[in-house]
Amino acid sequence: MLFFLFASVIAESIVETVNNDPSSTWVAIEYPREVITLAKMRAMLGEEVLPLEDVEYVEPNNVPENFDAREQWPGKIYPVRDQASCGSCWAHAASEAIGNRFSIKGCGKGMLSVQDLVSCDKGDSGCNGGSGPLSSKWLVSNGVTTEECLPYVSGNGRVPACAAKCSNGSQIIRYKYEKAETYTVQNIQEELMKNGPVYFRFTVYSDFMNYKSGVYQHKSGYQEGGHAVLLIGWGVEDGVPYWLLQNSWGPAWGEKGHFKIIRGKNECGCEQGFYAGPVKC
Ligand SMILES: *[C@@H]1O[C@H](CO)[C@@H](O)[C@H](O)[C@H]1NC(C)=O
Repeated sequence: MLFFLFASVIAESIVETVNNDPSSTWVAIEYPREVITLAKMRAMLGEEVLPLEDVEYVEPNNVPENFDAREQWPGKIYPVRDQASCGSCWAHAASEAIGNRFSIKGCGKGMLSVQDLVSCDKGDSGCNGGSGPLSSKWLVSNGVTTEECLPYVSGNGRVPACAAKCSNGSQIIRYKYEKAETYTVQNIQEELMKNGPVYFRFTVYSDFMNYKSGVYQHKSGYQEGGHAVLLIGWGVEDGVPYWLLQNSWGPAWGEKGHFKIIRGKNECGCEQGFYAGPVKC
């Protein structure tokens, strides 16, 4: 009897816990192994876990209810990528923020290079992780080249030495932030509307892996690590305010590679600082 009771508790998976909870604002699924596993997710979490702070958020009254950078700047936001087996979330978020900002300004260089940051950014740690503030600093002092010049090759977890030339032998040209800026939850919406996407970090729990759609809030599972993604908008779904994010786990995960997380509650420490900087054509 006790055995069966015990077995049935174990059998309640994260997916069932989330989907059977009437207060849940998101839908969970069991992904096929090719999309994600717990081991693969752990390998991709390359941001610090920050101690949770008290953050106050009062929705600004000069911003629209919904904002999506892809609609604001059609064709200017580069698509979802896949880190594969490398903790390069930080390099994806950082290169996407600066790349999209050049693109929005009208001087896009094509996607900017994740590999350049993974192999060359000495302030961060390649496939072992990096951070928003440190990668922003690197983007001011050194900058980042294009994906075309240095394509992503660290999906297998190996990090080649920093290249001296583009993969075709031409000179490397890098693009920089004019300065590194940290935005607060209070001014991030205006910043996003004005200059484009920013680096967004938060703490990941096991249930995040199973996210399929809706507005994520942590419901079940253990703390797994820190993660960085790209903030591209916000909105309200069924009365629940959210941040809109572009992940780097390929288009088969979540809402075509994107997800929403509840806004205004510092969920998973996600409202403790946002990173990017101004760019000039
Ligand atoms: C080599 O790559 C660079 C950077 O992507 C590009 O600008 C250049 O046109 C390429 N050169 C040749 C000869 O393909």
